[in-house]
Amino acid sequence: MIFQSLKVGCYIYRWHRKLRSIGFSLTLTLSRIRKELMEPTTSRKVEQSQRLQKRAAALIPGGVNSPVRAFGAVGGEPRFIVRGKGSRIWDADENELIDYVGSWGPLILGHAAPDVLDAILAAVCNGTSFGASTPVEADLAELVISAFPNLQKIRFVSSGTEATMSAIRLARAYTKRKYIMKFEGCYHGHADALLVKAGSGVATLGIPGSAGIPEEFIQFTVALPFNDLSAVEHAFQKFKHQIACVIVEPVVGNMGCVPGAGDYLVGLRLITERERTVLIFDEVMTGFRVAFGGAQEVYNIRPDLTTMGKIIGGGLPVGAYGGPSEIMDLVAPLGPMYQAGTLAGNPLAMAAGFATVKHLRDHKDEIYPRLEKLSGELVEGVTAAAKDAGVAVCHNRVGSMFTWFFTSGPVTDWDSASKSDTAAFARFFRAMLDNGIYLPPSQYEAAFLSAAHSQEDVRQTVAAAKQAFAAVKA
Ligand SMILES: Cc1ncc(COP(=O)(O)O)c(C=O)c1O
Repeated sequence: MIFQSLKVGCYIYRWHRKLRSIGFSLTLTLSRIRKELMEPTTSRKVEQSQRLQKRAAALIPGGVNSPVRAFGAVGGEPRFIVRGKGSRIWDADENELIDYVGSWGPLILGHAAPDVLDAILAAVCNGTSFGASTPVEADLAELVISAFPNLQKIRFVSSGTEATMSAIRLARAYTKRKYIMKFEGCYHGHADALLVKAGSGVATLGIPGSAGIPEEFIQFTVALPFNDLSAVEHAFQKFKHQIACVIVEPVVGNMGCVPGAGDYLVGLRLITERERTVLIFDEVMTGFRVAFGGAQEVYNIRPDLTTMGKIIGGGLPVGAYGGPSEIMDLVAPLGPMYQAGTLAGNPLAMAAGFATVKHLRDHKDEIYPRLEKLSGELVEGVTAAAKDAGVAVCHNRVGSMFTWFFTSGPVTDWDSASKSDTAAFARFFRAMLDNGIYLPPSQYEAAFLSAAHSQEDVRQTVAAAKQAFAAVKA
């Protein structure tokens, strides 16, 4: 039945795109009107989410496919989301929520952005995957490369984890060295060697790393405090000519939002150049988020390798790593560094990513200043509400990526982030959710605003925060 309707849908799409899109949105609208008449959208019922969580928990560890979704750090009912449009999502109980998670970053254009949906629908009608090259891979590669001056070649993979893991393998192949340097609170995916002092998800669970990783697998990982250049200098002396790469989130998102301070990132660039070590900017979160050209545009720094994900897949699974041809040509089949993927460069993900990045490129002069303005108003409005209520809160923000830390701050590294009052954050989170605002369910995650958020969303969120801080104090 579903297959039949998909076939019919594709047929109509090919021959009469307009008719299809009118028909499609009419069906959706009718089903929404029907649902909305039956159930009020303002209720804060959670029965359906509860039921779905109970069912999932019997089948999937914790009922979730990524730990933070379980609401372990904040308590309350994890919401099951059934649809999204623009800045809003609806859960299984028809609660309407203003969303500041944005699928953890990819949805910079908001939910169900028309350009992105059109691109996915057009692509899916031609088949889902071929295990052979498709034209859209080079389209997206060209677009991404044009935004990052130090990228000459790029390889697409299916997740950010694969991107960082592969970039590190490549750095080791290029330098013929073993050690890698990372920073406390930075998360680069869940590859064994990188799950050391890895921020957010791991910190949220209150465990230092992960079980199941033999010491031998992390013996070449040097983890240092973030924003501390003297620690970097010291480690380079200790491991002279042995460090293959330094990998860093230039604006950390994974201990909450913490930007590289002052000359820290410039310092990393100068030291790695001097030491002939590969500098990897992990821009999985910041790429196309903090600026069209990512954090490297904001800080005017050219790393050797860049990893990406999230936005370049437009909400579908993706990752990428890239850099100058001199390094990238070591990747198989040109060179000896092996890396492969059954679904790498998948045509649906490529189409969604291309539509997203193209939209950003075509409208970047409106989108990024607007994201900056609205995010500034939102973040400062909420911090002011905390101050009025006498709750100790400070914030960090770079563009549309931000965190309110429940501490007087400043937050510059993992030590200062971990001084946050996570119990107060949990109360704030739950009160905001009750008021229709969906924030990341952990103190140690960044929140995101999208191009679909409005002034009215910001006003409603600040108003909700005023009430929520009263609950935090109570
Ligand atoms: C900076 C950074 N690198 C890598 C990753 C891993 O990406 P993925 O979850 O797609 O594997 C993440 C995920 O949040 C991230 O924020």
